[in-house]
Amino acid sequence: MRFLITAGPTREPIDPVRYISNRSSGKMGYAIAEAALAERHDVTLISGPVTLEPPRNAKLISVSTNDEMFEAVHRHADKCNICVLCAAVADYKPAHVSSTKIKKHGAKFSLELIPTRDILDSLGRRQDRQFVLVGFAAETDHVEENAAKKLRAKNCDIIVANDVSGADSGIESDMNEVIILFRDGEKTKISRALKKNIARDLVKIFLDFATKTFDKKNVMIN
Ligand code: C5P
Repeated sequence: MRFLITAGPTREPIDPVRYISNRSSGKMGYAIAEAALAERHDVTLISGPVTLEPPRNAKLISVSTNDEMFEAVHRHADKCNICVLCAAVADYKPAHVSSTKIKKHGAKFSLELIPTRDILDSLGRRQDRQFVLVGFAAETDHVEENAAKKLRAKNCDIIVANDVSGADSGIESDMNEVIILFRDGEKTKISRALKKNIARDLVKIFLDFATKTFDKKNVMIN
């Protein structure tokens, strides 16, 4: 099977030296890439800026902004069977990017932000898609409820939800605990474990789902 995986944060420039970003480490996405590669699948990893060693044998596409990630995903999605959008993409970006460093002055300062493009949503809207679409949901409250809403709103096949309210799970951590929601209402939980171990289980779950989906659609798999 061919996987497309997005990972890490995006950076939205404010001026030549500043940007808006988030604390995503990319660990979960990179662990999923490693787990898929270990099972001899083909992996295209579209990654925002992270400090992790790229998995050997993955096709790595390094991007920085939401726009770059959007373009890269759309360029490669149709060549893949399973698209796993794990990246913590910035939801907003500055309306204007200053070409010179913005000077400090004593007065109040506001930045005008505009929404970025939602990559997961844009894939979910495609009626003709031939790949399984997996989204992630990092939530601080009502985890399952919010994730279920996201699954429907973005028309995904699967949403992997995690609680990022604590310091010891989720963002930046090596550990995670997830609930996996499927479009038919089924759900399954993976208790607290190393992201590496969770990744192995997730890859199995995605493959299982893909195999069933492709059989039903009568689409050849390789
Ligand atoms: O709506 P929210 O950002 O919480 O949704 C998270 C899911 O959507 C993740 O799978 C993330 O990779 C994806 N996403 C995206 N493009 C955005 C924002 C989120 O693909 N601009």
